[in-house]
Amino acid sequence: MKKFKFTTVSTIINEPGGVSNIGEIISPLGYKNVLVIADKGIVNAGLFDKLIKGLNDSNIVNVAFTDIGPDPKEEMVSASVSVAKENNVDCIIGIGGGSVMDVAKVTAVIAKNGCTLADIYGIEQVRGGRLPLLLIPTTAGTGSEVTSSSVISHASGKKNVVIDPTLLPDIALLDVEMLSSMPKQIVSTTGVDAIVHAIEAYTSSTKKNPISDMLACEALRYLLGNIEASFQVSAAEESRSKMLLGSTLAGQAFANSSVAAVHAFAYALAETFHLPHGLSNSLVLIHILRFNIGKEVTLYSDLSRNLFPEVIGKSDREAAEYLISRLENIIESIELNKGLREFDIRAEDLEKLAELTLKQERLLNNNPCKIEYRDALQIFKNAF
Ligand SMILES: [Fe+2]
Repeated sequence: MKKFKFTTVSTIINEPGGVSNIGEIISPLGYKNVLVIADKGIVNAGLFDKLIKGLNDSNIVNVAFTDIGPDPKEEMVSASVSVAKENNVDCIIGIGGGSVMDVAKVTAVIAKNGCTLADIYGIEQVRGGRLPLLLIPTTAGTGSEVTSSSVISHASGKKNVVIDPTLLPDIALLDVEMLSSMPKQIVSTTGVDAIVHAIEAYTSSTKKNPISDMLACEALRYLLGNIEASFQVSAAEESRSKMLLGSTLAGQAFANSSVAAVHAFAYALAETFHLPHGLSNSLVLIHILRFNIGKEVTLYSDLSRNLFPEVIGKSDREAAEYLISRLENIIESIELNKGLREFDIRAEDLEKLAELTLKQERLLNNNPCKIEYRDALQIFKNAF
């Protein structure tokens, strides 16, 4: 067996209503003065109030920083670090989607050891630890509560990444009640993102390992089995609870095995047309899988046989095609079966998108087969 390394969070708590019981989680650990990082959407949805009440009920002093938007900027991190330092906090709680958790992770580092963002951009540049960190996701998609990365944008729009195991929180708290008011469109796009995390982790050419494989398969059982039910307005709590756990399992898988071409294409779309991340993934997913199985079918047939007993005994090609057809059906039923042209993207934009995609070398290197410029352009044409 080849050498591998697997790193993840030390504690995952899955507790419906856990946010209201936050005091019972925090108090035994001795934290008494907490900075809560959230965004305005979380505040407006009333989720923030539940957390603050839970802290207050346990006499835990708390301050809040909620000035966070999508694609979080360096200034937001500076501001949240200032709040942490001015109040001499001893713990950071991030409650929200990927942007909030990205800010919470680097705030915990900088508030502890006095470094700057520039000092920690890159891979494994963090020195000196971080403040205790608890992350609470409010969508079932990013898996950021169990990943060791944070993406922060410069004022120019350039995205910088911090990847370091120090960013893994002490506790990931999964409370399905935080997902109760999630709109359908967020359920669908974030859910597809989680599905892509698991598929790309399982089919990564470089870092997949037996633990990430196991997590990716289990994640897909939860995600594929519940995304359509979860998409309904009156979704049962159980389906969203399983999506939330599936997203976390997928996060643990891709934090160790890495995502690949779907994310490379999605980042090019997000950078140019500012489409939501999960939507960008959904627009190219099927077309990239079709390209990949034409070159490297066995990873996908293995995955399909792990998920669907009905394809055991079928050929590699048939098994892989079955996985794609199941994904196509799901994408249609959650109303994401759209072409790029429906998002003000023009045919003449595709060459630029293909060029931008090729710049995502780190991600493309994880793809199970090589993607050249002409391949990327054809995939965008197919997705158009
Ligand atoms: Fe993603």
